[in-house]
Amino acid sequence: MTLGEKAGQMIQLQNAFLEDEQDLGRLGIGAMLSGGDDGGPMGKRGTAAEWAGMVEGYQRAAMRSRLRIPLLYGADAVHGMSGVKGAVIFPHRIGMGATRDAGLVARAERVTRDEVLGSGVNWNFTPCLCVPRDVRWGRTYEGYAQDPAVVGKLGAASVKATQGERLWRGSVLATAKHFVGDGATAYGSAEGDKIIDQGDVRVGEKELRDVHLAPYREAVEAGVGSVMASYSSVDGVKTHGDKKLISGVLKGELGFKGFVVSDYDAVQQLPGNGLPEQVARAVNAGIDMVMVSKDYRGVRDAIVGGVKDGSIPEKRVDDAVRRILSVKERMGLFEQPVADRKLTRAVGSAGHRKVAREAVRRSQVLLENDGVLPLKKRGSYRIVVGGNGADDLGRQLGGWSMGWQGGKGDTTEGTTFLEALRKATRGTGIEVVTKGRGDVGIWVGGEKPYAEWFGDAKDLSLGAENERDLAGVCERAEKCVGVLYSGRPLAVGEQLKQTDAFVASWLPGTEGQGITDALFGAGFSGRLPVAWPRTAAAGPVAQAQAGTGEGEPLFKYGHGRQPY
Ligand code: GLC
Repeated sequence: MTLGEKAGQMIQLQNAFLEDEQDLGRLGIGAMLSGGDDGGPMGKRGTAAEWAGMVEGYQRAAMRSRLRIPLLYGADAVHGMSGVKGAVIFPHRIGMGATRDAGLVARAERVTRDEVLGSGVNWNFTPCLCVPRDVRWGRTYEGYAQDPAVVGKLGAASVKATQGERLWRGSVLATAKHFVGDGATAYGSAEGDKIIDQGDVRVGEKELRDVHLAPYREAVEAGVGSVMASYSSVDGVKTHGDKKLISGVLKGELGFKGFVVSDYDAVQQLPGNGLPEQVARAVNAGIDMVMVSKDYRGVRDAIVGGVKDGSIPEKRVDDAVRRILSVKERMGLFEQPVADRKLTRAVGSAGHRKVAREAVRRSQVLLENDGVLPLKKRGSYRIVVGGNGADDLGRQLGGWSMGWQGGKGDTTEGTTFLEALRKATRGTGIEVVTKGRGDVGIWVGGEKPYAEWFGDAKDLSLGAENERDLAGVCERAEKCVGVLYSGRPLAVGEQLKQTDAFVASWLPGTEGQGITDALFGAGFSGRLPVAWPRTAAAGPVAQAQAGTGEGEPLFKYGHGRQPY
């Protein structure tokens, strides 16, 4: 391989910024992505078939290179292939963490794997192994739990379901992210318009290892093929430039043999006098592949220039390229570079939706119930429904759903809570209304969708609209149930007094019938994946759990009434 070809393999570029498809062959680009689950065909959402056609086009262009090395193509299918119209979208990881069930996580991830492959994509930037410790963090919902043992168990199950027992031609490449300590950044330590996300980890070596590094040991043992570095820093050192952590701990101590990819344009956040110095710092620290938006030529020139001027040892480049090509070879990409289209037809199938519906039900956590649940399946009574989440699929999905920041309304195919309730009560004598009075009131509402630092919160208040809507529904009914859509616990102390039962529904995804299944008798089995802080001004959840810091939590980690 020439130095230029080696440098090309070390680049992952965002499809929206590819200036000329011929660049893929000319520069020998190693990987692409549709970041943030944006970047579908021609920039729109697109069906699985349209995505597969798009990726196939890139693959053919890339394989016109001298060495015909196939592309890895990545997406953020963090709870289903959520950039593809009609794909099944599962509960976000915080909901899957509430199930504590590695087998269910594996079944869900195998469905996602098949819908990723059916969309032509062969790399999924999951699982996030973050261990959220302050639920004001905007990415809390991307983590399974505050307990590293649960994160490690479910993370390993996710890796094996996505890749298989080992990397092979049926694999989707998994990515353990964001290495390391992304869930531990201190409130207020982030720069610019961020509060927590991408901030500084200041927990000390022991907690960093025991809590935040531990899940990576299990992911490496599970054979994860790639790891994504974290934008954050540890004690002021940006992790993307931290050779001790990436090369010393991850590759040395843990023996990770796959490749390390940077986060999106994260290398440009490193200290240094321009891109060449930043790229050299990252590559020398152990970054093997640089994820970049616009300046992919600049990154390639920086790697070539760095080797030529001696700032990057060529053996470091050779090691990076060897790691990347070894993953491609073990995935059988050289033999089968384009996706197996027979999976395309199964995207969004009834069988896939059945798995998601079970995952939704099992993710529900019943915080309180004074006997109003289970709801009678039949009878002549009226349910009055209200709230901003009752009939808004976008709010039910949350972020990373048909767009990086999610959306509002019918952004894809799915069943809203209200649609599920109408299906569950059809022919039962139960009347479902959205106005006037009822025997039972059900409020469904919560957070609007967000992703990453857009979700960093100064406090955990439920918000005036939700408080008003819930009170409005409950005063029009004899009994009242609250169903909260949120990526994290919120301050609901007052609302618990106004309701007769309260469900933490998290961000359940497309299959709303999983919620009504639980309400009408199938029962609740979910347990809190994070402690539920008592006040809106919550501090790091670990302190709340321990009863220090912000005081005793309202509900402890692991709480959940079962089955009612
Ligand atoms: C984002 C996220 C990361 C994601 C990547 C590609 O900024 O930090 O989780 O996989 O970019 O979209």
